[in-house]
Parts: sequence; C-alpha cells; structure tokens
Amino acid sequence: MTTPRRFPDDFVWGSATAAYQIEGAADEDGRGPSIWDTFSRTPGKVLNGDTGDVADDHYHRWAEDVQHIRDLGLDAYRLSISWPRVQPGGTGEFNEAGIAFYSRLVDALREAGVKPVVTLYHWDLPQELEDAGGWTNRTTAYAFAEYARRMAEELGARVDTWTTLNEPWCSAYLGYASGVHAPGRTEGEGALRAVHHLNLAHGLAVKAIREVLGDDAKTSVTLNLHVVRPDTDSAEDADAVRKIDALANRAFLGPLLDSAYPDDLLADTAHVTDWSFVEDGDLAITRQPLDVLGVNYYSTARVRHFAGDGAPEQNDGHAESAATPWVGVTDVEFLEQPGPYTAMGWNIEPQGMTDLLLSLHATYPDQPLMVTENGAAFDDVVSPDGAVHDPERVAYLHDHVDAVGTAVDAGADVRGYFAWSLLDNFEWSYGYSKRFGIIRVDYDTLVRTWKDSAHWYRRLATTRTLPG
Ligand code: NOJ
Repeated sequence: MTTPRRFPDDFVWGSATAAYQIEGAADEDGRGPSIWDTFSRTPGKVLNGDTGDVADDHYHRWAEDVQHIRDLGLDAYRLSISWPRVQPGGTGEFNEAGIAFYSRLVDALREAGVKPVVTLYHWDLPQELEDAGGWTNRTTAYAFAEYARRMAEELGARVDTWTTLNEPWCSAYLGYASGVHAPGRTEGEGALRAVHHLNLAHGLAVKAIREVLGDDAKTSVTLNLHVVRPDTDSAEDADAVRKIDALANRAFLGPLLDSAYPDDLLADTAHVTDWSFVEDGDLAITRQPLDVLGVNYYSTARVRHFAGDGAPEQNDGHAESAATPWVGVTDVEFLEQPGPYTAMGWNIEPQGMTDLLLSLHATYPDQPLMVTENGAAFDDVVSPDGAVHDPERVAYLHDHVDAVGTAVDAGADVRGYFAWSLLDNFEWSYGYSKRFGIIRVDYDTLVRTWKDSAHWYRRLATTRTLPG
C-alpha cells in the first residue's frame, strides 16, 4: 500500500465521449451524412460491419446519461458536437433541431452542476465537404471557423471550455495516409495538407470564438502526442525518434504553440511536398493563446532505425493497413513494446503519462495542461448477478491518475483528468468490439450498467483522493 494521494479541490474530474461514437440517430431530425457514415457503411472498413447508426442511442437517452454523469459526481463532461447534425452540408444552412439538441444537453449538464467541455470536431466531417476535397482543401478550414462561430453564438457562455479539434493526428494521418479512418484515403501529400488545414482551422476557430464571446472564452485543442522511445541509445535510433516526434507531435505543437513548422519536418518530407500550401500569414493564425492544452494519453511506442529491404513494420497500434501513417518515413521500424497490454494490444505504461506531461511542461512552462482522455479497453464479462467486475480497468485508471499526480508533484501545471469513456461506444474501425466505458452498454437493450470502475471513479471524483 502506498499513501493516498489527495488532489487539489479545483482539479477537474471528468469523463469524455464523442458524438459519432455514442449518439446514433444518424438520419434523424435533419442530420446530414458525415464521412464516418459513408466509411462505416462501406463493407470491409469497420470490424463486423458496425456503424454509428444506433450506437448508444444517446440522442434519445441523453437525459439518462446526464443523470449518470451527475451520479458519478463529475465536475465536467467532455462531449463533441456533430457538425453535420447542426450544419448538414458543412456550409450554408444550419439545422435548428440539431442545435436545439446540444442546447438542451448543455443546459441539463449545467443544471446538474457539471461543466460542459465541448469539442467542435471529433472526426465527423460533413460528407459534402469531403466530396469537395475534405481536409486536403483549404476552404474546409474556413467552413470550420464559420461553424465554430455559430456554435459560440448559440451556446455562448454556457460552455465552460471550447476545444476545437480532437486528435488532428488521427484525422490527418489515419484519414488521409493509412486510410484506416474515414475518409479512408491513402495519400502522402494529402495527409500533410490535411495537417496544415487542421492547424489553420483551429486558429481560425479560436479567433471566431473569441470574436463572439470575448477574451474570457476558454479555448483549447486536444492532441494525442506520442511518447516514442528509442530501441537503443544509438544515434540512428535517436534520429528515428526525432522523425516520428516531428510528424506526430511537433507538426502540431509547432504551428499551434510556436507559430512555425519544425525545419526538420520540412526537410524529412521534402520529397513528398514543398509545403507550399502553407500561405503567408497562416502561422500567425494557427498560434492562438490557449487556456489549456488537452492531452490524450494511452500508451507508448518504441522505434529503431530500419536499414533492411522492403517496408518496415509501421503499425502504430491502430487498425492494420498496407499504407503507413508515417508519411515520407521509410527507415523507421516500430517494435512491439513489452506488456501488459489492453484489449487494443496497446502496452500499459503509466510512466509514459508522467514523462509526457513533464516534457510538455519543460518545453511550454506557462501552458496549462489537461488530460482530456485516458482509459482502457478490456474484454469485460457480465457476472451472473449482472455486475461487471473490471479490476484491470480500475488498475489502469488508478496507475495513470497516480502518474498524473507524480507529474503534478514535479511541477507540471495539470488542471484536470477525463476518463475515456463514460460509456462503451463505437470504437471507430473496431466497431463495438472494444469496450472503453466505465459504464457498460448492452447493445441489444441499450441498458447502461455501472462497472466496478464507475463506482471506483465516483469515489475518486467525490473524495478527490486516490486510494493508496
Ligand atoms: C482517442 C479518440 O479521441 C477516441 O475517439 C477513441 O475512442 C479513444 N482514443 C480510444 O481509441
């Protein structure tokens, strides 16, 4: 037993979801199609042919879900808005019924004493925008800013924190390079164009939100920064880490926090693109003051320099693909990490959480941080009495919250922690086969059942103390 760890009273305890993963009601009340509707309805793209058509039926069961959030004693709830639900084509007409849904949800959360943390883009691009080029097209960034502006006008100060993008790494590289996420394209240069247009979209949206709500509006972006370890201490393996760090991390941190793309990133990818899609003035827009930088953390990666023939193993732990997400990098190999592993096959390494938070704090000492996602999928079993005993998930959450505490003790300015996820849900290319929820969803009946981890998390959130 270690000693219990007490977190500050103002440390925010929350849980997170995303629209396409939980809402369902894909064709209701004027919602337009998104790239995930198209992708998931394409045979072979998602395991078992699963789609988000029904998902957790949160669109109809939102009031019950808010009650769970209240019962869990959470300070905050991180949700995302489905862009095609509020603006079916991504430009032009807005859909009042869709806006009303989020308006009710935000009101109910506030009434329950829960702060709404709203993500504007959690991967469900309106299909019409993809048909015009999607994130490879610069105008998508401007469309996103108009959508953000309207949401700021509609939901205004009722939203506690506005998060522009969730994990743009996934949107760009899994969507446009390896193709395991919607829209399923496999284009090297296209993915790098998407990186830039996502960064631009973020900056334009933050500006639009501040124009509407003033400088008091709290803004953020959520990144899935990669913790990459070298296989050996050789200079070649250090260079392999540098290349992955450039594409995965500094391609976003640079423009968003430093107004620049890293020189080494431009050099490493010069054979793919000349980056001429970065226009004069863009990098002054991409960097906006951020109230918090959102960090999603699950596991670590290990790489080494690859000098063999053929293509190196570059599966980063997302779905298998013949195409690599690591645009332009042919001499870096991803190695299997030592276990234990979650049901995703991701290695469990809480130390990576501490290392990530401390390295961000070292590079950006004045930037407050927030863990906007952390959690684990396991193959849950329902006991005969109906309970779900998930000791592995409890241990995972415990050890990672402890790792956040270690980073805080060492000086990192971390403002909160959000467990992924409130509910079992549609895990993208894995469909419903992977369960991340602290609350179980029975996909036949849509009944919600608290797992042991939900009871455990309620104690943590209400006592603000991690048991020893
Ligand atoms: C990151 C994503 O934001 C979320 O949508 C996903 O379900 C989890 N990680 C788990 O893979």
